[in-house]
Amino acid sequence: MTDVLAGKVAVVTGANSGIGLAIAKRFAAEGARVFLAGRRQEPLDAAVAEIGPAATGVRTDVSVQADLDGLYSVVREEAGRIDVLVANAGSAVPQRLGEITEEAIDATFGTNVKGTIFTVQKALPLLSDGASVVVTGSTSTLRPGPGLEIYGASKAAVRNLVRSWALSAQERKFRVNVLSPGPTETPGLIGAVGQDHRLASEVPLGRIGRPDEIAAVATFLASDASSFVNGVDWFVDGGQAQV
Ligand SMILES: NC(=O)c1ccc[n+]([C@@H]2O[C@H](COP(=O)([O-])OP(=O)(O)OC[C@H]3O[C@@H](n4cnc5c(N)ncnc54)[C@H](OP(=O)(O)O)[C@@H]3O)[C@@H](O)[C@H]2O)c1
Repeated sequence: MTDVLAGKVAVVTGANSGIGLAIAKRFAAEGARVFLAGRRQEPLDAAVAEIGPAATGVRTDVSVQADLDGLYSVVREEAGRIDVLVANAGSAVPQRLGEITEEAIDATFGTNVKGTIFTVQKALPLLSDGASVVVTGSTSTLRPGPGLEIYGASKAAVRNLVRSWALSAQERKFRVNVLSPGPTETPGLIGAVGQDHRLASEVPLGRIGRPDEIAAVATFLASDASSFVNGVDWFVDGGQAQV
């Protein structure tokens, strides 16, 4: 590791599993102080124990306003600012047109869209000048797989939000980008599709991704090395949605 995030204060939502956990671990290894958010206390505690003193866990449901207030109040008290914010918490309920339920829409948009909006909006008072905001998108914005239509629509909304927010970068003094993973081996993906190796055949590199490969790009987008990168949708998908 190269300490590229030394001295930075980072907040990562959805950090007790999969991609968010890999990002939190990598950020800490690169020298950042990291606040981890997620709903399930047990994996949150395990993640904090694994990372060590650079980590603090705050049980948070990003779709609940009061939980976000609680998260940012801990960050304010313990660190006073945010240099890197990763709005990564996300979920999918696979359903196809004809079987879509109101509950699935509310759950998916509640976390992925409303949750992302308020994760960023409520962080504004704490964002330092030059802060980097990273929002987890998905290749499903371009290629929604079967049953991923509600999920893909929620991630397309997030991508569009980032275009708007990137416009105010000069005024607000932060950069904001989307990081869009392709199929990545996480508890979330395996829980949804099982060990479905057909996914690998859709990827030009011939395999699905590892969470640490997504975390490597998140580290670049978080760091000063990407200081002129703003408003992009950075795909880390082995080429899946590119060709
Ligand atoms: N894996 C892939 O192939 C893939 C591809 C493209 C995009 N993504 C995106 O990558 C992100 C991470 O997914 P993953 O694959 O790492 O899945 P994962 O292993 O299921 O992790 C999802 C994380 O989000 C948290 N979360 C879900 N709903 C939440 C809520 N309302 N409030 C706070 N935290 C919440 C979960 O923790 P709790 O359940 O404890 O809250 C967990 O930490 C998501 O945005 C997902 O859409 C994943």
